[in-house]
Amino acid sequence: AGTTEINMMWFYIVIVIGLALGVFSVIPIGGADMPVVISLLNSYSGIAAAATGFVLQNQALIVSGCLVGASGLFLTNIMCKGMNRSLGNVLFSAFGKVDATAMGPKSAEGITIKEMSADNAAYTMQAAESVIIVPGYGMAVAQAQHEVRKLSDELEREGVDVKFAVHPVAGRMPGHMNVLLAEANIPYDKLFDMDEINDDFAGADVALIIGANDVVNPAARHDESSPIYGMPILNVDHAKTTFVLKRSMNPGFAGISNELFGYDNNYMVFGDAKATVSQFVETLKEES
Ligand code: TAP
Repeated sequence: AGTTEINMMWFYIVIVIGLALGVFSVIPIGGADMPVVISLLNSYSGIAAAATGFVLQNQALIVSGCLVGASGLFLTNIMCKGMNRSLGNVLFSAFGKVDATAMGPKSAEGITIKEMSADNAAYTMQAAESVIIVPGYGMAVAQAQHEVRKLSDELEREGVDVKFAVHPVAGRMPGHMNVLLAEANIPYDKLFDMDEINDDFAGADVALIIGANDVVNPAARHDESSPIYGMPILNVDHAKTTFVLKRSMNPGFAGISNELFGYDNNYMVFGDAKATVSQFVETLKEES
């Protein structure tokens, strides 16, 4: 009985060390690095399952654990490349640097914005030669992808060149936007990765940002105190005009305000993304 007690004590000690290690290794990682860490943790769960498989001598657990572990590591690597960071940098660069005051302003104070009605935004897009659509987490929340497909069709009928710019961490999981746009049957040749399309914004008349926020925040380029500093972003601010579709001035995942909203060539179109996009479609149909 004594040996079992000692063994159980070690068991609890290992659990406590494991919990502490988990909490302390994740706490300092913030803002833009979170997606990378989430996929790394997924990968660890596979490795843990494989290790359990060895203990229980269960081959199915070993094989499935290895599959989850390996695919998680591949995904982590792809995400790191997309974010232009090394894994070591993601895991250790922020260590000991947790500082709530360095998280940037939480509210939109100090930013003067301009609003535009959905109708006027639709007319502007109708008159444009090229429109680049940038989907984000808000498009997923609003389930607006089918309306977005209709909008793209209407604009093309008007002779407008329509493309989609997909940021590697737009949404809340890898490939989130690709899955939604594919569900709405938007042709693959209209979807472009960040690297492929970033130079095209300078020649675009309108960048239509549907429920995206952090992935188009120019602070990532120059504000060293920002939690998303260093994350590559979509160059929407290089387009002639930008429209941002969201419900309020609330921040996105990183919890910081977006200076793009105050730029001269930006207009906010407030409302639920699905309702706003279907208003665009109606206006375009009435006009044609
Ligand atoms: P976010 O920065 O999270 O912004 C989403 C915006 O959508 C919000 O500002 C919100 O504003 C708006 N929104 C929410 N519901 C809406 C609705 N029904 N209609 C219209 N707008 C709506 O999104 P993002 O630009 O896609 O960036 C993704 C963020 O998530 C990044 O910071 C990334 O690091 C992080 N992240 C990504 C992943 C992966 S793997 N993709 C995983 C974990 C974390 P309102 O509330 O004002 O409407």
